[in-house]
Amino acid sequence: MGRTVAEKIIRTHLVEGEMRRGERIALRMDQTLTQDATGTLAYLEFEAMGVARVRTERSVSYVDHNMIQGDYRNPDDHRYLQDVAARHGIIFSPPGNGICHQLHVERFAEPGKTLIGSDSHTPTSSAVGMLAIGAGGLDVALAMAGEPFCLPMPALLGVRLVGTLQPFVSAKDVILEVLRHTDVNGGVGKIIEYFGPGVKNLSVPDRATITNMGAETGATSSVFPSDEVTRRWLRSQGRESSWVELSADDDARYDEIIDIDLSELEPMVAQPFQPGKVVRVSALEGMAIDQVMFGSCTNSSLRDLLSIGHLLDGQKIASSVDAGISPGSRQVLLEATERGALSKMIRAGVRLLEVSCGACIGMGFAPPTEGVSLRTINRNFLGRCGHKTGKVYLVSPEVAAASAVTGVLTDPRAFARDRGLEPFRFSMPETFLIDDGLFEAPSPEPETIVIRRGPNIAPLPEMKAMEATVRGEVLLKVGDDITTDHIMPAGAKILPLRSNIPAIAEHVFEVVDASFPARAKEAGSGFVVGGANYGQGSSREHAAIAPRYLGVRAVIVKSFARIHLANLVNFGILPLTFVDESDYDGIDQGDHLSLETEHLLAGGAFIIRNETKDRPIACKTPLGQEDLDVVKAGGKLNYVKERLAV
Ligand code: F3S
Repeated sequence: MGRTVAEKIIRTHLVEGEMRRGERIALRMDQTLTQDATGTLAYLEFEAMGVARVRTERSVSYVDHNMIQGDYRNPDDHRYLQDVAARHGIIFSPPGNGICHQLHVERFAEPGKTLIGSDSHTPTSSAVGMLAIGAGGLDVALAMAGEPFCLPMPALLGVRLVGTLQPFVSAKDVILEVLRHTDVNGGVGKIIEYFGPGVKNLSVPDRATITNMGAETGATSSVFPSDEVTRRWLRSQGRESSWVELSADDDARYDEIIDIDLSELEPMVAQPFQPGKVVRVSALEGMAIDQVMFGSCTNSSLRDLLSIGHLLDGQKIASSVDAGISPGSRQVLLEATERGALSKMIRAGVRLLEVSCGACIGMGFAPPTEGVSLRTINRNFLGRCGHKTGKVYLVSPEVAAASAVTGVLTDPRAFARDRGLEPFRFSMPETFLIDDGLFEAPSPEPETIVIRRGPNIAPLPEMKAMEATVRGEVLLKVGDDITTDHIMPAGAKILPLRSNIPAIAEHVFEVVDASFPARAKEAGSGFVVGGANYGQGSSREHAAIAPRYLGVRAVIVKSFARIHLANLVNFGILPLTFVDESDYDGIDQGDHLSLETEHLLAGGAFIIRNETKDRPIACKTPLGQEDLDVVKAGGKLNYVKERLAV
């Protein structure tokens, strides 16, 4: 039987297991990436493993999330990351070089290879036909130590593309259309693979927008074939030698297929507070807006900036709108400057933000109170862009540009028609302005590197093995679609604490219930109860390690998002699901629960007791035996440390 692109890559990297849907497989990882918000913890974990040099083909440490240098903490973190990279064989990308995913697609992504990154949008690099997966920092640290990455063999969701995008409709509209079909959990347990005659009509930056935001469907990854378009991209990046052709066999089998005719697509918009709440722009046209943000790892390529420049040429941003742009990389910034796109934007009244993530998570560019912010980013969860009252709508660069001028949500096709604009066409340069001058190679004399640790770099807390009887109260009961931003918020105030678990733990669940950290610490041990798709969104493992530090021992929900489930296991929190979802209604916050560890069975059902209501609750672990052993050991670091030490 024929194979899909994803199956071909999995087959060549399979270390353990059979490629049968849902069965546990272990994959060799060729590359890793980290970013600063998750990286400091990942490298503290890597150091704790006692491995001298990374055992991957290539590992890159990016600083892109938090550049604010209001005190010593962020610069200290950046310096720690720089030293660890030099010492352990990792390429370092300093502040100002660019956003990790944009840079990785430009300089490192390779067809046919595997990549694991401590950022949920790592699948961006699958735009060139590689298998790129987002994971928690500990899984990335383990991959750097040469360990395979384990996951259930995903199902394959094929997206058959035909046709060509019409002028002023772009790749963001494609992925918003996919999200309209799948919502935020339709990709869970799946790899989305794009195929069909429409694929060749999408550039690599277009594909990267689509694979980036595939993360919002819950998918493990989103993959494009590697074709002539990919070859031209790699050639223009001076990397044609890493090109290999990779396409699905004619008789490849997908478990389900979505059909999209690119020619029929219209501009789309995702409404607050879920990327899956997608409607056509025409449904909300005329809505007043307060702010426009261009950029993020989803839409900050040269193609996007040129398109924005095209629409803003000779225009003025509405006086009621605050507009800012974060270019995705120095390469993009240099090209956009050379080609005049940047000056068109600045003349129109757009302000230039740093080449970084910052604005995406509300740092340096947050919506006003109750304000409507149109953003070209990938997520609009409650509070993600700085505070809870900001209403973020996700749109294409074209919708954002047209709306910035009119001050209301605007269809860019009508905007262009009214102003007599020619359709925008992206012409990729034969050779990009390649400047790798800021990347730092690992030290050739690693033993001479002394790692500088500022006072905010705290040692990892010890995690004890699971007790024979776990007892405690339900510290918090929440509903469906709880995100890692709910559990462990980010933002300018909290991100500098990312390498200091006791300090960052003071902010756990603060957007849901500010008393949670104090109550959890006082209780000493407890449970969290939740609904479906618990832990969706960002890959941040702080959303597991910080609750564990506060005493959370088990999380009982209707279903989990993939990366968060793995993070809970990695830090010794027992993930449980209800056998009968209606039991969710029979537990209240404050109830006392107990479970006997010896009754836990891999994948099997067992009973925990609601002591307050004197009734049993049938639960099961969505874990195999090894993951269950990891939880019982108090987390993966305890479990693997001795085996890895060299
Ligand atoms: Fe950065 Fe926002 Fe992407 S934080 S990695 S630009 S989702």
